[in-house]
Amino acid sequence: MTLTNILPTRGGARVPAVGHQHAPISDPGMYLLRILVLISISSRATGDLFSKATKSRSDDLHNSVFDFIIVGGGTAGCVLASRLSAVPEWRVLLLESGDEENIDYDIPGVPTKDYRPILWNYKTERNAFSCISRPSGSCEIKTGKVLGGSTVVNNMKYTRGSKSDYDGWHNSAAAASLDWKFGNLLEFFKASEDNGDYDVLMNSHYHGRGGEMHVQRFKHVDRYMEVFTAAFGEMGLKNLDINANVPEAVVNNQFAIANNTRLSTNNAFLKPIRHRKNLVVKTGATVTKIVISKQEKSVEAVLYEYEKGKERPAYAKREVLLTAGAINNVKILHLSGIGPKAELKKLNITTIHDLPVGLNYQDQVTTGGLAFSINDVAPVSESQIIADFKTWFQSRSGHLASVGIGQVSAFVQLYENSKGPDVEYVLEGNFVRSDKFLLTNISVAVAEEHSLPISYYNLVNVYPVLLRPKSKGKVLLNKRNPKYGRPTIQANLLKENEDIETLVDSIDIALQLLDTKELKKAEIKFAPLDLFPCDRIKNRDQWNCIARHFTKAMSNPIGTCRMGDSKEDSVVDYELRVHGIERLRIVDASVMPTHVRGGIFAPTMMIAEKASRMLIKDWRESKNQFYNGR
Ligand SMILES: Cc1cc2nc3c(=O)[nH]c(=O)nc-3n(C[C@H](O)[C@H](O)[C@H](O)COP(=O)(O)OP(=O)(O)OC[C@H]3O[C@@H](n4cnc5c(N)ncnc54)[C@H](O)[C@@H]3O)c2cc1C
Ligand SMILES: *[C@@H]1O[C@H](CO)[C@@H](O)[C@H](O)[C@H]1NC(C)=O
Ligand SMILES: *[C@@H]1O[C@H](CO)[C@@H](O)[C@H](O)[C@H]1NC(C)=O
Ligand SMILES: *[C@@H]1O[C@H](CO)[C@@H](O)[C@H](O)[C@H]1NC(C)=O
Repeated sequence: MTLTNILPTRGGARVPAVGHQHAPISDPGMYLLRILVLISISSRATGDLFSKATKSRSDDLHNSVFDFIIVGGGTAGCVLASRLSAVPEWRVLLLESGDEENIDYDIPGVPTKDYRPILWNYKTERNAFSCISRPSGSCEIKTGKVLGGSTVVNNMKYTRGSKSDYDGWHNSAAAASLDWKFGNLLEFFKASEDNGDYDVLMNSHYHGRGGEMHVQRFKHVDRYMEVFTAAFGEMGLKNLDINANVPEAVVNNQFAIANNTRLSTNNAFLKPIRHRKNLVVKTGATVTKIVISKQEKSVEAVLYEYEKGKERPAYAKREVLLTAGAINNVKILHLSGIGPKAELKKLNITTIHDLPVGLNYQDQVTTGGLAFSINDVAPVSESQIIADFKTWFQSRSGHLASVGIGQVSAFVQLYENSKGPDVEYVLEGNFVRSDKFLLTNISVAVAEEHSLPISYYNLVNVYPVLLRPKSKGKVLLNKRNPKYGRPTIQANLLKENEDIETLVDSIDIALQLLDTKELKKAEIKFAPLDLFPCDRIKNRDQWNCIARHFTKAMSNPIGTCRMGDSKEDSVVDYELRVHGIERLRIVDASVMPTHVRGGIFAPTMMIAEKASRMLIKDWRESKNQFYNGR
């Protein structure tokens, strides 16, 4: 068989036959990759239907003076660009290190988080207590390097966390922090929201519509989603909206999608307004430094590069807004002389302002090694997958309009004194070739490695995710190559004893799933993976060992530029202004002091909405006149 006549057609245009089409498919595992490659080659040939944007890479800026410069076109950056450029007299520059988003990344069933070209591909430093059996003893951290940032590679799940998480950011000694109590943030969540599920929308206290970010459940439901939902139900969890401040629920999640297509903040906020004359978007542009005058400690410009070593300046009349995420913000700030003095000194960087940038790093954490097998799944045929791709391109429906079992998750409060859920049981389907599978003793890596779209699965990885881990780490510059090397990430996952104990407690509950009538009836069984060197250990000690060896970082990094009122333990104030520096704000997940009990993409959009409101208030005499971007 050849792939020539089975490639998807797009917008009526036949996709040209390219390369490889006569290559026999020997390894079904190569399928997804090959299809992705073909599709992406073809999209270059036929033009990207989604994006009318053209590459801006080689252009020089005719006028390099702007009112606002946004550093990083990710989750928060795209929201800010849209809101600020809604004020016609403001010139806004958005600089993004990655390239344009491509529609190939927007097929829900295709796991882009494994697609290296659009990732920063960072890793944690080795230590003796976590990620021990992961490659080179470190955990991968996968954040997006593409316009849209991590919303192009994330799981799209729309969760906000609990009221108590935000209320905990409030510090009674600092009046300004009152603004960050949950009750005062709801309007900013709702500002972006366009909720497409009527039962959810009915709760108008929490939800709204009319915003740019459409959120909705996937329509595609398969048998095992029902089985797992019912099994969690049997264990006492109710099917509820987790975004309505409930402590426990089994959830049929809502996702950032429109017409069954990924809706990144680029797709939702930026694409519709790319034509604005006062907005300049540069992709492939990596910011290397923020230029700060030493006397006034005021920001003047940023330096950015299309090519290594060729720095260009762009000047900001009003403010520079840092939105490069919790890891890359640290790199940019340290290179600019803002950071812990002792650390900067080691690298001969003159400190402009001594601030704890990079400390207080936190990530949510889980472990691999816990998987359930589903035996009666028929092998997926080549032709079915190709037909499903066609279906998706033609009508945005079918198998690929789904993230499979990942649509279901369960939030559980383990301890009475917790102020909300402690863990989320995240389910992730994977199709493991039957010849490997029959051996049962497959490695954790094989159990986790996607070779087919995630909506086909005969294995369910069950990840108990610690939503509010206690362990903290730090991010530093690469000692050997501060400017171009990967930053050093001492994540310290599972360093605190409480974290490992909670994780092991949560595994007990996951195992109870196997005893439910539902899972038994469906013949879903424990999958004995190769857990060397933990295979000989029994009970709690075994799970302790597994969690330390097969740790998984959730890639939801926060805290490195946390907000607070003192420059000793925070980087920005409650209006997100960098302590002691004029005209520099940080507006993304890095300002969160602690995690919220859920994902962080919706909270990050909220932060950007709130910051836009502050900026417009601070810089415009006549308020609200143009602030109606929606
Ligand atoms: C695999 C994965 C799955 C996830 N799943 C979910 C989920 O289902 N639900 C959820 O709520 N959250 C999820 N998250 C988390 C969430 O998506 C991100 O943490 C959040 O969106 C981060 O937003 P941000 O604006 O802080 O950073 P980002 O969105 O990462 O944006 C930073 C941007 O800055 C750019 N940049 C960096 N350095 C520079 C530089 N020097 N110059 C120019 N540009 C630069 C980057 O390329 C990027 O585009 C997931 C994350 C990952 C990685
Ligand atoms: C810092 O400067 C000193 C003195 O000039 C030099 O010896 C040292 O190698 C430099 N260190 C780095 C990391 O560049
Ligand atoms: C969804 O996408 C398909 C395929 O491009 C298109 O035919 C259909 O009109 C779209 N539906 C909506 C509601 O936009
Ligand atoms: C599982 O595989 C590992 C090597 O991958 C091997 O050392 C171990 O003995 C196997 N265990 C069983 C029960 O087959």
